[in-house]
Amino acid sequence: MTHAALLELDIRAKHYGERTILDNLRLALAPGQITALLGPSGCGKSTLLRIAAGLDRDFTGSVAIDGVVQHGPSPLAGVIFQEPRLLPWLRVADNITFPQRANGAALARAQSLLDEVGLRADDGARWPKHLSGGMAQRVAIARGLFAQPRLLLLDEPFSAVDAMTRMRLQQLLLTLVEAHRMAALVVTHDIDEALYLADRIVLLEPANDAARQPVSHVFEVGAAHPRRRDDLTGHPLRAVLLERLEASIAG
Ligand SMILES: Nc1ncnc2c1ncn2[C@@H]1O[C@H](COP(=O)(O)OP(=O)(O)O)[C@@H](O)[C@H]1O
Ligand SMILES: [Mg+2]
Repeated sequence: MTHAALLELDIRAKHYGERTILDNLRLALAPGQITALLGPSGCGKSTLLRIAAGLDRDFTGSVAIDGVVQHGPSPLAGVIFQEPRLLPWLRVADNITFPQRANGAALARAQSLLDEVGLRADDGARWPKHLSGGMAQRVAIARGLFAQPRLLLLDEPFSAVDAMTRMRLQQLLLTLVEAHRMAALVVTHDIDEALYLADRIVLLEPANDAARQPVSHVFEVGAAHPRRRDDLTGHPLRAVLLERLEASIAG
């Protein structure tokens, strides 16, 4: 039986020592929907993503994927980080299929994923050190898709590439989410990236002192895809998010 929400996150509290990083945060992600997690550096975005990915279990609350409570990483979730994190001693195809070797059906699948992320099948034979940053991140996306996840968790996936590559990879993410009807959670500190990609934006505001708890706000973007980037500069939400981000940085 499939569950309506692919990811249900219910974080009652996450602490580092005395500090509360996340407090009372609930989030449900539906198939085909992109949620952006936006907030200033240090507000707890990566912490939340690691909890969702099953990489951090030191919190109170629960994570359910497709209706099943998780106790660690799930094959239903593909995780993509800011740096590609490719293994330098494995060729591209073996990185995609890892820990399997890229033989037979696994190699064929790696090659079709290379095509899907905009690379060539024979790029599979290359070594990671010979790839540009953008190509390496495409390989990381292919690796994230290898196990046919239904949920993608991305932590600032396009922050380390140049502006033109970033726009192409954002477009690729939209295409992939739609084609596979995955649910996606994208961490970003970039308002324009959030507005371009997301159906919904969760703004995290940190606790700047011990007296204040961290808070989150949810905004529906409500603009149909495909979106035009120049239209989004005038989106009413943009001014609201900018003001809130500036206020949370100022404390
Ligand atoms: N392992 C850790 N131990 C203690 N504090 C941590 C640890 N990891 C992150 N933090 C702190 O928790 C806060 C949130 O970190 P993080 O989730 O990485 O923020 P973001 O991804 O939004 O920049 C930061 O203030 C960071 O310094
Ligand atoms: Mg981070």
